[in-house]
Amino acid sequence: MPIEFAARLRRMPVYPLAAGYDLGADVAMMASNECCFAPLPEVVEAARRTLGGAHRYPDPSYFPLRRALADRYGIPPGRIALGNGSCDILLAAGQALLEPGAELVYAWPAFSVYRQLAAASEARAIEVPLDDEDRHDLDAMATEVTVATRLLLICNPNNPTSTAVSLEEVEGLLRRVPSHVCVILDEAYCEFALTLGDTYASLDLLRKYPNLVLLRTFSKVYGLASLRAGYALGGAEDFRVAVDQVRQPFYLNAAAQAAAVEALRHQDEVERRVTEAIASRLDLEDRLRALGLWVARSDANFIWLHLPEEVEEADVVAALLERGVLVRAGTALGREGALRVTVGTDDENARFAEALEASLASLTASGTKRGR
Ligand SMILES: Cc1ncc(COP(=O)(O)O)c(C=O)c1O
Repeated sequence: MPIEFAARLRRMPVYPLAAGYDLGADVAMMASNECCFAPLPEVVEAARRTLGGAHRYPDPSYFPLRRALADRYGIPPGRIALGNGSCDILLAAGQALLEPGAELVYAWPAFSVYRQLAAASEARAIEVPLDDEDRHDLDAMATEVTVATRLLLICNPNNPTSTAVSLEEVEGLLRRVPSHVCVILDEAYCEFALTLGDTYASLDLLRKYPNLVLLRTFSKVYGLASLRAGYALGGAEDFRVAVDQVRQPFYLNAAAQAAAVEALRHQDEVERRVTEAIASRLDLEDRLRALGLWVARSDANFIWLHLPEEVEEADVVAALLERGVLVRAGTALGREGALRVTVGTDDENARFAEALEASLASLTASGTKRGR
């Protein structure tokens, strides 16, 4: 007899992992919204220095990183949760807040891990469709809040659609949500978002709303995706206490912590990356719109586009891969007939734009579209 697993396992979606990491150096990796800039040598060195002490568990207070974030954002260290990537904190939040009979509200399509929170806890997920511009419909989300709601998630800018809502709009929603509902503002890409002003702007909301949590990561602009470090800033201490209670104590390795502390010291580099990524993104958006494609108004380091009706999404993704470019198909992310493309280096962006133009031309000419 095979092992009998929990029934909820069958309801848990399998995270749509990007294929292609084994394809070799000649593929433009534009599928996972990472940063195309390698970590600075000082950051690599900080991580390397910890390896000689790898026989010891990491300091479970994670004080250096907690202190560095507290100093940067003017938040008491006790209100800062850390994690093995921000995903780790997200999943812990689900464990700490949700249970059968509880509800969580989020937009869809949004970050694919949100779906896992309901399935893992047997809470009810309310998925609120995005508006016509593929932005969060915060009004519609507010009307879905009930006495059973425990968690409301706003992905800003939204993965996969790249769009952002203003903090005034977010505050409009916060005013309508009862204070016992935890609101997580997932700001994995906030450094790139001109709509938000700067990375301090949403901290004003934390001072007013103790039920708010800002979820952030070192995986994107800080370029540390493979080391796995994320953090959450809470409007009160209770969120940090709860997520720490449901997890194993050693959730952040020493190398990741040291690299994150060092990376925070190089804000000039963060600004340089943001400026470069936004300039490249605008160029790429122009090229794609010139092909007649609908491109969402991006506020992130990636682009979301709708494909023409005549072509099949999977064929486009395959044709791009044949031309050495890896992107994400919309279906895996919640919407059929779309692509999500991470802004890469100038060479990668040019390669993608040329490959897409050629792929669309050949697929349209061959009329391979199957019926939907
Ligand atoms: C919106 C959003 N939130 C959270 C994450 C998780 O990032 P990490 O676990 O690498 O910090 C991602 C990763 O792609 C994301 O897109």
